[in-house]
Amino acid sequence: MPEPCPVPTTTPPNPARPPASGSALRGATLKHVVESQQFTVPLLMELFDRSRGMEHVVARGGTLDYQNRIMTTLFYTPSTRTRLSFEAAMHRLGGRVLSTEHAGAFSSEIEGEQVEDSIRIIGGHSDVIVIRHTAEDGARRAAEVSPVPVINAGDGNGGQHPTQALLDLYTIYRQRPLDGLSVAIIGELDKGRTARSLAYLLAKFDRVKMFFVSPPQLQMKQDILDYLDEHDVRYELESDIDRVIGEVDVVYQTRIRPERVRDMAGRNNDGRENDGLKRYAIDSKVVQRMKPDALILHPLPRTVELDKSVDADPRAMYFRQAMNGLYVRMALLTMLLDKEQAARSAWW
Ligand code: CP
Repeated sequence: MPEPCPVPTTTPPNPARPPASGSALRGATLKHVVESQQFTVPLLMELFDRSRGMEHVVARGGTLDYQNRIMTTLFYTPSTRTRLSFEAAMHRLGGRVLSTEHAGAFSSEIEGEQVEDSIRIIGGHSDVIVIRHTAEDGARRAAEVSPVPVINAGDGNGGQHPTQALLDLYTIYRQRPLDGLSVAIIGELDKGRTARSLAYLLAKFDRVKMFFVSPPQLQMKQDILDYLDEHDVRYELESDIDRVIGEVDVVYQTRIRPERVRDMAGRNNDGRENDGLKRYAIDSKVVQRMKPDALILHPLPRTVELDKSVDADPRAMYFRQAMNGLYVRMALLTMLLDKEQAARSAWW
């Protein structure tokens, strides 16, 4: 059995914008996927190249190339997209899947077992583990003891969701260059693990500007802002969607729970009264003010912050975005499993 793989540190050794020619980095740092910061631009480009290839693999019905490989999904909190997309990805690669949904109740955690012990056991039965844990450091703790790669499928209530951000970025990348983008990230950003992970990834590209649009009480947390400051990435904190919606190339809308904005009534720029939720929601009237070629993304699930009247708009990318999750997760699994295979061969 190989030793546990090293876990990336919070401050990665690679600069935020490594040179494009850094081909030596390709595939060199991806052992676990715990946080977005660990991705370099060359690693992202390798992932996206593979994801393009996976679009063709899926169109052919899949491959049997990974038929002896086993992936375990260990989800302590609910998921529709992430778990099923990972499981579909492994099936399309020809691999097999062990799955524990609602793991807090349907695993030995109910007997008091710690995640570290669960992972040591599961790591003996599988080649890769995908975990969604209740604690913000759950995936990191898992990776620290795991003999096989661990993928963070969303941790805690305000941690990170790096594979969601990877598919978000891939969706944008398929439509336009990533350098020079202006992006509005909207929602309750303090708890927004997808928004947090995407901000880290966008920060790796040149001349990107982010607008964090949220009620002040729910704004992006200081750790992300510090990271952006350290890496000279431009951003603005904004509380009025009207001031940015017509300027940006990408609108990344995220969940807004009505109970968190109910008391935030106010007025729009035009003086209209608005309840707290509507100030941050997108509907067919709001999208009329967007650039004609802007992209509308949402990690889903949505509730009231993204009206169904937007779905028919050609700029609405969110269902394509969810589909891209399959390709990106297939690509990610191959990157991890190929490395894992090489490590096991060397060990034995
Ligand atoms: N976007 C996302 O993480 O969705 P699920 O919670 O359904 O996995």
